[in-house]
Amino acid sequence: MDDLRDKYLSAIAEAADESALETLRVQALGKKGEISLKMRELGKMDPEERKQMGPRLNALKDEINAALAAKKQALADAALDERLRAEWLDVTLPARVRRRGTIHPVSQVTEEVTAIFADMGFAVAEGPQVESDWHNFDALNIPGHHPARAEMDTFYMHRESGDARPPHVLRTHTSPVQIRSMELRGAPLRVICPGRVYRADYDQTHTPMFHQVEGLAIDRDISMANLKWCLEEFVKAFFEVDDVELRFRASHFPFTEPSAEVDIRCSWEGGTLKVGEGDDWLEILGSGMVHPRVLEAGEINPERWQGFAFGVGIDRIAMLKYGIPDLRAFFESDLRWLRHYGFAALDVPTLHGGLSG
Ligand code: PHE
Repeated sequence: MDDLRDKYLSAIAEAADESALETLRVQALGKKGEISLKMRELGKMDPEERKQMGPRLNALKDEINAALAAKKQALADAALDERLRAEWLDVTLPARVRRRGTIHPVSQVTEEVTAIFADMGFAVAEGPQVESDWHNFDALNIPGHHPARAEMDTFYMHRESGDARPPHVLRTHTSPVQIRSMELRGAPLRVICPGRVYRADYDQTHTPMFHQVEGLAIDRDISMANLKWCLEEFVKAFFEVDDVELRFRASHFPFTEPSAEVDIRCSWEGGTLKVGEGDDWLEILGSGMVHPRVLEAGEINPERWQGFAFGVGIDRIAMLKYGIPDLRAFFESDLRWLRHYGFAALDVPTLHGGLSG
């Protein structure tokens, strides 16, 4: 009995894992285990012997069971300790910078422009890219025969033959969102409308799809002076310079009267653009006072309300600010280009935190 006890207790103490323990359990206490067989022999013993051996065998059985359970727990504890050691993690280490994806310059600049105008009280409005001919042209005082229609190299949507309605167009500018905002919100109104626009054109500075942001402010007594201040604030904030000189050049758009194209003073010395100094002028946007007929089309009474509007090419000002030479590369999805010109995803542009990081 003592030999059995020593044999199993030391084997259990040395067992390396749970399956070794299970093997020992079967050897000792399984159906044909050594101790089980001994217990079966009790039946053949005489009563005196049985009285002695029975309790001893039972005690041994309990002792081995207890040793097995204790060893099992010890093995599990050791396994947990080992895992905790191996999977240890220092959560105070700095995050590893993994620049897998970047924010496209168009998205970045759209966010920058939005932050600047939001600070001046402008809300963001949107309109459809497939636009009615009326919103894109007529409502903006561009009637059917107007040469501006031809100049815009418009993409027309398909119409079934026999359908007499004018075909929808891919909007050629963001100005139709002026009309939609007036229809939706009425006066007074302050919105910017960023988005995609389309014209059939393709070279170093033109792509068939590009981006504009429209601005529209309507109130009781808005003048060109308000427009000028607003645009100066915008240009200073956007190009991150303290001072900038704007030049308003008389121009013509059917939907504004008077109209002005706006240039900013700049220098191209050494091939890089510097805004706010130098002897060159750079055209950056079209603008003017909203034409009374456009207010009427938007169901706003031009006797009571007036406003200014402007349109800026987002891709164009992105190229200027970030020194990107070719517009076509914007839309080629070349990862090397995106890594070079892209922005970190978590650097959201804000006026207080800095626009471009
Ligand atoms: N829609 C004009 C364009 O695409 C820009 C513009 C907008 C001009 C608003 C004046 C006022 O060229």
